Amino acid sequence: MKITVIGTGNMGSGFAKQLSAAGHSVRVTGRDITKAQALADQYANVSAYAPAQALGDSEVVVVATAYADAASALQSLGDLTGKVVIDITNPLSADYMSLTIGHVTSAAEEIAKSVPQAHVVKAFNTLFAQVLADGPKFANDQRGSVFVAADNERAKQTAIALAQSLGWNTVDAGGLVNARYLEPLAGLNIYLGYGAGMGTSIAPVWLHK
Ligand SMILES: NC(=O)c1ccc[n+]([C@@H]2O[C@H](COP(=O)([O-])OP(=O)(O)OC[C@H]3O[C@@H](n4cnc5c(N)ncnc54)[C@H](OP(=O)(O)O)[C@@H]3O)[C@@H](O)[C@H]2O)c1
Repeated sequence: MKITVIGTGNMGSGFAKQLSAAGHSVRVTGRDITKAQALADQYANVSAYAPAQALGDSEVVVVATAYADAASALQSLGDLTGKVVIDITNPLSADYMSLTIGHVTSAAEEIAKSVPQAHVVKAFNTLFAQVLADGPKFANDQRGSVFVAADNERAKQTAIALAQSLGWNTVDAGGLVNARYLEPLAGLNIYLGYGAGMGTSIAPVWLHK
C-alpha cells in the first residue's frame, strides 16, 4: 500500500519501521522536515516530504500527532477526498491519566468532522508505541490485536488489511461511534502500564471460548 504518516514521534517512528518492514511505500511528514528526513533515512521505502507534498498518491493517511494537532495536521496535506485516514490518537489530559472528551463523542468522530471528505478509521490507539515498534508477537506465542472501528466499509477493510500486513490480529469493533469505547480502553491500558506499573510491553486483546 501507499501510506502517508503524519508525525515523526513515538508512534510515527514505529509506523515507519513496521510499514517499511512489511514492504509498504511510505511518505512521512511533520512540522519539522529535518525530523521527517532523519526518520526516512533509517528505513527502506520511506521518503520525507513537507506537508503540502506529503499526500502524493497515498491511499491511506496515518495521523500520528497529538489529538489537538490532528485536524490541522490533516488539513495541511490538502485534498483528502476518498482517502482512508487512520486515527490512532487518544485525547489525553496533560498527565496522560484521563481523557479530555468521551461518552458523547470521541477524538475519531471529532477528527472525522474536520475532514468530512475523508473516511476516518479508529485503529492502533490501544497499542503502546514500544509495542507497535516491536511488532505483534508477545510471550507464549500470543499475538496482539488491533481494534478497528469505522463507518465506511472499504476504509475499514483497508485498515484491517494494513494491520494484518504488519502481523496483527484484528477485531472489527463496529462503527466509528465505537471509538467512544476504544479511546477509554487505551486509557485503561495507559493506567495499567504507567499507573499500575505493568510497563509498556502490554496490550489488550479479545478472547474467544
Ligand atoms: N505513545 C504511545 O504509546 C501512543 C500509543 C497509542 C496512541 N498514541 C497516540 O498517538 C499520537 C502520537 O503520539 P506520540 O507518542 O507519537 O507523540 P509524539 O512523540 O509527541 O509525536 C507527535 C508528532 O506529531 C507532530 N506534529 C504535531 N503537530 C503537527 C502538525 N500540525 N503537522 C505535522 N506534524 C505534527 C510532532 O512534531 P514535532 O516533533 O515538531 O513536535 C511529532 O512528530 C497521540 O495522539 C497519542 O495519543 C500514542
